[in-house]
Amino acid sequence: MVNKQALQEAAAYLQEKMVETPSIGLILGSGLGVLAEEIENPVKIPYNEIPNFPVSTVAGHAGQLVIGTLQGKQVVAMQGRFHFYEGYSMDVVTFPVRVMKEIGVKQIIVTNAAGGVNESFEAGNLMIITDHINNMNANPLIGPNDEAFGVRFPDMSNAYSKELSELAKTQASQLNVELKEGVYVGNSGPCYETPAEVRMIRKMGGDAVGMSTVPEVIVARHAGLEVLGISCISNMAAGILPQPLTHDEVMETTERVKSDFLSLVKAIVKEM
Ligand code: HPA
Repeated sequence: MVNKQALQEAAAYLQEKMVETPSIGLILGSGLGVLAEEIENPVKIPYNEIPNFPVSTVAGHAGQLVIGTLQGKQVVAMQGRFHFYEGYSMDVVTFPVRVMKEIGVKQIIVTNAAGGVNESFEAGNLMIITDHINNMNANPLIGPNDEAFGVRFPDMSNAYSKELSELAKTQASQLNVELKEGVYVGNSGPCYETPAEVRMIRKMGGDAVGMSTVPEVIVARHAGLEVLGISCISNMAAGILPQPLTHDEVMETTERVKSDFLSLVKAIVKEM
């Protein structure tokens, strides 16, 4: 359930610090936080300074909001996000999305590192998320619904904006960046999947698997925000290749595709 007062306190704190109202929110996944460094005239606000904001714990997540200009657009970027597997409640995981909405954001770009389930993918691919499967056994909207924040039964038919996906594809082809598309399955983590789970995910229609994004997108849609999702396929999911999975591989791959990722997202933001 949304804690209205906590939300308003956080938003008021940010509004005091920011110079202009951001219309685009960027949620940056593992290893993808570098995008925030491209923001001009940045106002950087560490999570621990923002009233009622949680603090992130995972290596590779810096933990600050960066508000400023990217490609001429006013943006707010989350450098580091909160994961369900860290032990945060779904309310806490999605609190920053509510705050973004409260300070004026209309569209969000959600990014993540994910395991490739579709065998035609390879580590280093970028994937537009066309849809998701919530496999977390939890939903951030469970509990009393405050109609001021969204409807009781939100439609998820168009969770990921077709217009923004088309825009992403156009920009990718102009930049000569290969872009896959597919369904993202959100698992709770924190362990990676077993090979059997990966086979199940493939059978149920998943192309990529990760441990984030789904809660934030559910809340974003509840709040009426338009969503673009981009996964960096940081590794092939368990059982596809002979080697075991490590967080180091995830970070190495995101580092390797950083320049394609940065130029793609910047080109998209420019045209949003
Ligand atoms: N599985 C789940 N989450 C992930 C993976 C994976 O293979 N890679 C990066 N995040």
